Parts: sequence; C-alpha cells; structure tokens
Amino acid sequence: MDKTIRDFCETYGVERKQTNSVKWDGLSEKFSNDQLLPMWVADMEFKVPKQVEEALMNRVAHGAFGYSLVPDSYYEAFFAWQKRRYGVLLKEEWLRFSTGVVNSFFWIVQGFTQPNEGVMILSPVYYPFYDSVEQTGRRLVVSDLIEKNDRYTMNFSEIEEKIVKEQVKVLIHCSPHNPVGRVWERQELEQLMAICAKHEVLVVSDEIHQDLTSHNHPAVAMLSLGEQYHSHLIVLNAPSKTFNLAGLLNSHIIIPDEHNREIYDQYAEKVNKAANSTLGLVAGEACYRYGEEWLSQLMAVIHSNHQYLVQALAAFPKVKVSQREGTYLAWIDLGGYVPASELVKFMEEECQLAVDYGEWFGKGYDTYIRLNLATLPKYVKEGVDRLVTQLAKRQEK
Ligand SMILES: Cc1ncc(COP(=O)(O)O)c(C=O)c1O
Repeated sequence: MDKTIRDFCETYGVERKQTNSVKWDGLSEKFSNDQLLPMWVADMEFKVPKQVEEALMNRVAHGAFGYSLVPDSYYEAFFAWQKRRYGVLLKEEWLRFSTGVVNSFFWIVQGFTQPNEGVMILSPVYYPFYDSVEQTGRRLVVSDLIEKNDRYTMNFSEIEEKIVKEQVKVLIHCSPHNPVGRVWERQELEQLMAICAKHEVLVVSDEIHQDLTSHNHPAVAMLSLGEQYHSHLIVLNAPSKTFNLAGLLNSHIIIPDEHNREIYDQYAEKVNKAANSTLGLVAGEACYRYGEEWLSQLMAVIHSNHQYLVQALAAFPKVKVSQREGTYLAWIDLGGYVPASELVKFMEEECQLAVDYGEWFGKGYDTYIRLNLATLPKYVKEGVDRLVTQLAKRQEK
C-alpha cells in the first residue's frame, strides 16, 4: 500500500462501533441484522485533521457553550476556501446557517412553493430529495438521468418539456451527484441554469459533495456561472461531508438574490429558531483553514479503495460500475447476477453487508447498490471480497 495512504489511515483511521454511530450502531433500523459490515450511509471512519481536533479541544476547554455568534474569522476562512477552489466570491449577507443540508432543502421547498406546486428532481438521486417534495405535499416531477456506458447525463429536452407541462417552480439539483458520481461540467450546468432561468424555476444546488472530486474532474460551483443566474439560484453546502462533521450540525444556505433572501427569511422565521452550532463553527473554520492537505490525502485513499473495487469486479462482466468522477460513493448494478427480488437476501444474508439499495434512489434501480468507500482499506477489502465471493457462486449457477 502506498505510504501516504498507510500514514493517513494510521493517523486518522478510527473504529466507530459502539460509539453511537448511525452507520455502525444504527443498522437495525434499516437492515435485517445488526452485525453486517456497514458500507451504507455517507460518513467515514476518519478523524478530522489534527488542527481541527485541537481547535475543538481548545474550545471545549473553555467550558461554556452558550449561544454563539458567527465570528468574522469563520467567514474569512470559508470565503477564502470558496474563492481559492471554485473562484466564487461570496458575501456575508448572502449566507444563512442551518443545522443540515436536508433541513435546508425541506425549508426552501416550503418557503418557495405552495402545496401541490411542481418540484423537479433528476432520478436517481439522494432519497431525501423525494421526501422534501412528497412529505411537504408538493407535486413530484421526475426527469430520469440518461445512462450510457456507465456514465450519466441530463435529459435536457425532457427537463424543459416537463418544467413547462408540469409548471415546475423549484428544481433540486445534486452537484456533484449522489449516487451516480458525476461531477457536472460547466457547459451542462449552464444549459440547466439557462432552461431554469428561462422558465422562472428556482434551482436549489446541493453542493455538499463539491470538495470530494477526483483530480481530473474539478467541481464547478453554480455560483461561478455568473450573476445572470443569481435570481434563480440557491446553493447549499457544508464542511460536513468533506470533513466528517455531520454530527456537528453546521451547514450553509447561500442566497445571492435579495428578494429570495426576503422570502427565505420570512419562512425561516417560522421553522428555524436554532442557534448556530458552536462546535460546528469552530470545526468548520479550522477545516477551511487547515484541512486542504488532509483532504488531498483522503482523496488518495478513496481513489485507491475505488480502484480495488473496480479491479475486483472486473471479473464479472455483467456487473456495471458507474464512472466515479466525484463523491466517495460507488453506484453498482448487480442485475446481471442478482435479480431485484433477491438483492436484499444477497447483500444481507450472503454478503453480510449493509449498503444503500438502488430503489431508495429512484424507480428502475432495484438491482443497484451504493457502496461507501470513505473508510479504511481493510473494510473495503473485506466488503469487496465478500461481494466477489458471493457473486462467483452466482456466476457458477
Ligand atoms: C447530496 C446530499 N445532500 C445532503 C446530505 C446530508 O446533509 P446533512 O447531513 O447536512 O443534512 C447528504 C448526505 O449524504 C447528501 O449526499
């Protein structure tokens, strides 16, 4: 194993069983057996960068945890990160804080649409996108991504047709995309924004995975496309996916248009009375300040884990693994060997693995699984080896 990867895993790798981890200790909520090897929910077995741990320790040593303001130093660190990596120039007045990106899009859907109005999503996609439409009584409008040679693209003509026909008001977009692993190119995002602006659709761009991309696929931030789209755009991002901070409940809602900020603020007044997360802010700031080297090492681990997976599955020509340009998730179709009706049994009884099932992400994906690769190589090896062993038995049949 490469020395950087070994060093990173030795320094930051951590066991999480029996630490009240949803991923490790919350299996029984979704799966038949709580002893499965967890390769599902998107968080990791890595500790935060050392400087971040130190910043948290210092803040904890202070001992008082009353309501917190967002310090100027937080904005500085976050804005410098966005400028350096994505060429985005943020302004303090654009920013709102939230306890999580999922909460944020639930609020935006409700603040910017009325019950029964159309909200579009592009399937397959992170399943809370569906919930934010269906559980709030809005009308779900779906356009399927198009898959060709294990790579997905948007169906622009269908998107525009449905926007018009179904009178879509909001489109929730995942960029980079969970689960299919696409890092959308500038030209694709421009085409999407142009369609949405033309038809007065507000785009909610969930960019929580934007830092987790491979070298040759840098993420394009929607806000870098230009001011002409600002009145039709709200961006959601956070340090939480990148740096494994989800439990610290700190994320951003970026609203570059003043009128949209008024609408949001009026709605948020009714639902978001939470203060800022004191420790979330401390951790986030330190990550943006000191986390870049840690992140590049993490991406090397993910790349190597993904290579292990792809090489192992190459022995099974009927398994389809999506081309991963970003995220730390692998999107895999096992349908050539395992029928949909047997997928749960295959994964949980035969492989003893907990994965996200494709059907959670959209209709037509019931032979797919999503595997989380942001973990120690020993777990990826164990998980992939189990998968391969059981697939081999199926192949022989
Ligand atoms: C696309 C996407 N959005 C949002 C989230 C969750 O964000 P939060 O924990 O801030 O609600 C995830 C988690 O995996 C995700 O993949």
